[in-house]
Amino acid sequence: MSVPSETTAQQADRYLMQTGRRLPVTFVRGSGCMVYDEVGREYLDLVAGIAVNLLGHAHPEVAAAVARQAATLIHTSNLYFTEPQVELARRLVDLSFPSRAFFCNSGAEANEAAIKIARKWGRMHRDGAWEIISAEGSFHGRTLATVTAGGQPRYSEPFGPLPDGFVHVRFNDLDALKAATSERTVAVMLEPVMGEIGIIPASPGYLEGVRKWCDDQNLLLILDEVQTGLARTGRWFGFQHHGILPDVMTLAKGLGGGVPIGACLANPRADVFEPGDHGSTFGGNPLACAAALAVLRVVERDGLIGHAAEMGDLLHGSLAALGAKEVRGLGLMQAFEFEAPKAKAFQQSCLESGLIVNAVDEHSVRLVPPLIITAKEIERALNIMGKVAQ
Ligand SMILES: Cc1ncc(COP(=O)(O)O)c(C=O)c1O
Repeated sequence: MSVPSETTAQQADRYLMQTGRRLPVTFVRGSGCMVYDEVGREYLDLVAGIAVNLLGHAHPEVAAAVARQAATLIHTSNLYFTEPQVELARRLVDLSFPSRAFFCNSGAEANEAAIKIARKWGRMHRDGAWEIISAEGSFHGRTLATVTAGGQPRYSEPFGPLPDGFVHVRFNDLDALKAATSERTVAVMLEPVMGEIGIIPASPGYLEGVRKWCDDQNLLLILDEVQTGLARTGRWFGFQHHGILPDVMTLAKGLGGGVPIGACLANPRADVFEPGDHGSTFGGNPLACAAALAVLRVVERDGLIGHAAEMGDLLHGSLAALGAKEVRGLGLMQAFEFEAPKAKAFQQSCLESGLIVNAVDEHSVRLVPPLIITAKEIERALNIMGKVAQ
């Protein structure tokens, strides 16, 4: 039972592990690109649950699909077949590249699956090679393997000893990747746009070069599309900007429109899992898959891929006026960087003015709004940011 004299924030201090700092607001409902706190104050949401709520909040078709599925069959385990899971796999394969899917519940789990695939593939096809090369500054999740794969030691160092077999190189530096490759290397794992560190897109030609290097050296290319996937960048998947295909691709975040679901897709070359190799109790249950199918249906039907590209250009083109040192991004995955260390204060002032933005550090602000955002809402956000930035 709650203690009436305590606020939600005070109770959170008492009952929740303090794994991260929260902003001083308690949200109780949302609609479209707006969310509302417990006193009814409205906020325009340019963060969308960190690139999750592709269709905004409380989208009627996602809500209806979830309600319908909840009243039909929520969960069975993967001991049996369920239609929504097979249908979702078919849709994702059709949209991306010839492959098969494994479903889980988060981005970290999707990347764990990719790492296990790479290690097994290395045993089968590369003399037991197991090392994965990833990028400095990358983010792949918080499990022990994925936090080690990620290139931000501040997240992994406190938890040593860390799993062996991860090597980090500078992003967008093909020569560094080539130099780090050895007979131990089994795969390269990259985000097409590095998200968590503040939106750093792959330079033109980089991923094409990496793909070719992987082909020449007989390595797997794993693309972590947890943040870039599902139309966020103005294409269904980030790799589609680069004219290449990955061997393995991971998804999560936007896939369920807010309902937890992750996926790992592997092409026939990399599809090495056999019965007993991997699993997840909840992964791809009918409820999550019904939500994801509704999200994909609406994104396609409502032309949200082109819309994300268009709104992304609009946002990108207007952000320079905020006095930012640099504006970076692709589609509705944008960031800007202040010269002075004021991003956190900017985030707080925006919140007080009814706008949600995400300061990834003291200098950079990330904007990953719902794909349904309108030009009018972008104008409203820019007005608020313009006033706050003065
Ligand atoms: C590129 C990328 N990979 C993996 C993850 C981890 O996803 P999750 O938090 O769902 O485990 C994230 C989360 O921010 C991400 O941005």
